[in-house]
Amino acid sequence: MTTTAPRPIRRYPPPKGQVHADTSLGWIRRLAPVVLAHKFTFLGTLVLALVANLLQVALPAILRAGIDQALTAGTAPLSRYVCMLIAVGLARAVFTLVYRHGLYRTAYQIDSDLRNRLYEHLTRLSFNYYDRVQSGQIISRANSDIRSVQLFLTFAPLMLMTIVMFVAAVVNMFTIHVPLTLVAIAPLPGVYWLGVKLRNDLFPLSWIVQGRQADVATIVDENIQGVRVIRSFAAERRQINELAKAATGLRWANTRTIDLRARYNPIIENLPRLGTLLVLVYGGWLVVEEQVTLGTLFAFTAYVTMLQVPFRTFGFFLMMGQRARASAARIFEVLDEPPLVFDRPDAAPLPSSLGAVEFDDVTFGYRTDTSPTAISAPILRHLSMRIDPGETVAIVGRTGSGKSTIARLLARFYDVDGGAIRVDGHDVRDVTLHSLRATIGSVTDEPFLFSVSLADNIAYARPDADRSEIEAAAAAAQADEFIADLPEGYDTVVGERGYTLSGGQRQRIAIARTLLAQPAVLVLDDATSAIDVHVEERIHRALAERLGKYTTIVIAHRLSTIALADRVMLLDEGRIVASGTHRELMVTEPRYAEVLAHLEGDFEGGLERDVAIRDGGEDR
Ligand SMILES: Nc1ncnc2c1ncn2[C@@H]1O[C@H](COP(=O)(O)OP(=O)(O)O)[C@@H](O)[C@H]1O
Ligand SMILES: [Mg+2]
Repeated sequence: MTTTAPRPIRRYPPPKGQVHADTSLGWIRRLAPVVLAHKFTFLGTLVLALVANLLQVALPAILRAGIDQALTAGTAPLSRYVCMLIAVGLARAVFTLVYRHGLYRTAYQIDSDLRNRLYEHLTRLSFNYYDRVQSGQIISRANSDIRSVQLFLTFAPLMLMTIVMFVAAVVNMFTIHVPLTLVAIAPLPGVYWLGVKLRNDLFPLSWIVQGRQADVATIVDENIQGVRVIRSFAAERRQINELAKAATGLRWANTRTIDLRARYNPIIENLPRLGTLLVLVYGGWLVVEEQVTLGTLFAFTAYVTMLQVPFRTFGFFLMMGQRARASAARIFEVLDEPPLVFDRPDAAPLPSSLGAVEFDDVTFGYRTDTSPTAISAPILRHLSMRIDPGETVAIVGRTGSGKSTIARLLARFYDVDGGAIRVDGHDVRDVTLHSLRATIGSVTDEPFLFSVSLADNIAYARPDADRSEIEAAAAAAQADEFIADLPEGYDTVVGERGYTLSGGQRQRIAIARTLLAQPAVLVLDDATSAIDVHVEERIHRALAERLGKYTTIVIAHRLSTIALADRVMLLDEGRIVASGTHRELMVTEPRYAEVLAHLEGDFEGGLERDVAIRDGGEDR
């Protein structure tokens, strides 16, 4: 038996800056604190960018002086101006490099801050929220929306800088020659108008392209995930058709986009040349008339191209702004969702862990999809029950009677609408969620395993557990034998692209994981449904051997499992209608026998499977 030292867990500092909580503010105001958390790097970057852009404006001015002083007048050596041009050009390159680096760094920092904030909030949101939303939507929010906000935050300062550059250049030009400046800027409204028009035509198309890309991705995803279903119904042809249809739609949208670009781009690219042409014709005439110098003409042709940059990108900038705004709204929608279940400010850890459970007049209904406040018909109505420390109780009821709901309420995944749930005499709403969930360990019938090794999956309950503790938990859950048979034993990686376990094996890993946490109350909600009857008996015996220190709540359909309990409670119409040993209830409670008969009806497949498992050995 090997023992590994507990691995140190690296702690990351929480993200700086919160999104402003006031929902009435505009989206930029709400995001401001996230950006301001990095104000020093951000401002430093902006200053560097300002210098870089002013140097850019200085270059044509030096060129002008060089031509006029050194070439035309011959009053200064040409080498001086060449050196100045090289020096300023180099300085500009260095400043640009540094500010771009700083800008992207800050942008990705903000991106990571937002991502962590969002995820942190998602971990706090109640199951009410997860009942309502689709996981795909949450993932897309975390990815594309944060990216579009981040892109805008990077692009906005760059845009600001090109505007500064524009103003500096125009001011400089006006001081030299007003009419020539007016001629140079004359085509700019045309450039702007074209940019806006292109955006107006392209923007709706880009949404269509995105939507169709998502359609294609969804179909491909389903074709791969559902490959077994598709093959078993020989539906490959149908699926290929579906994909071809979606791909045709995507092709149309892409072709339209290219068409538009092909039409506008030559015009947009050649408009600067029109500006240069105008400056050359009018400026050339001015030079001949000796109203401006040759250097001025050179400088102006250089400025004409520079001037168009902000006008060309402004349309794009507005589009990014719109998109970032929509994305920010979707991010806020998640961040503004209040967690319904949270620690009270004065919540204290649960002081004891004896494992006494009491439901006192509990009424509960799930919130319906449409409104978080609307309550569906109550699932539990004035339910009262009491379970003593160390007792093993089976809860029996028809499918949909609310058995799993009892388990969820006990771990406070939802709050009751009426009455109270107490653990060791403490209302679950008065103690910290952390301590409550350390006391209540529940296993469901569809356990989720992470794509890590079996040892790590079991140790998920307690990352500091050493190998011998992990193996002991696995042994109690009767998982040790099949793990030993795997080629890589406890180091076998499961889940996606890993080793595939059978349903019963997964359930045993999940039981081991919960046992490792040593909760005072163990809730097995159909947790052994895919496990061989004999193995299940061994699990229950192993649980009993652990000094009977667990209070165990078993929700099961099998008579064999139910019979193992000290006491059986019958759940009907949202209430515990009878409580006693299996034998007592069989004799005294006609409804009990009726429900059991129903269960056998509902779970005939299950019973057949039990038999098959008994004969065939391996559980599936
Ligand atoms: N997250 C949920 N949102 C809305 N209704 C739910 C949710 N979970 C369960 N229900 C409903 O509550 C009832 C009880 O469910 P559950 O406790 O899972 O039953 P059981 O475990 O006894 O089969 C069922 O009618 C079910 O449809
Ligand atoms: Mg259930």
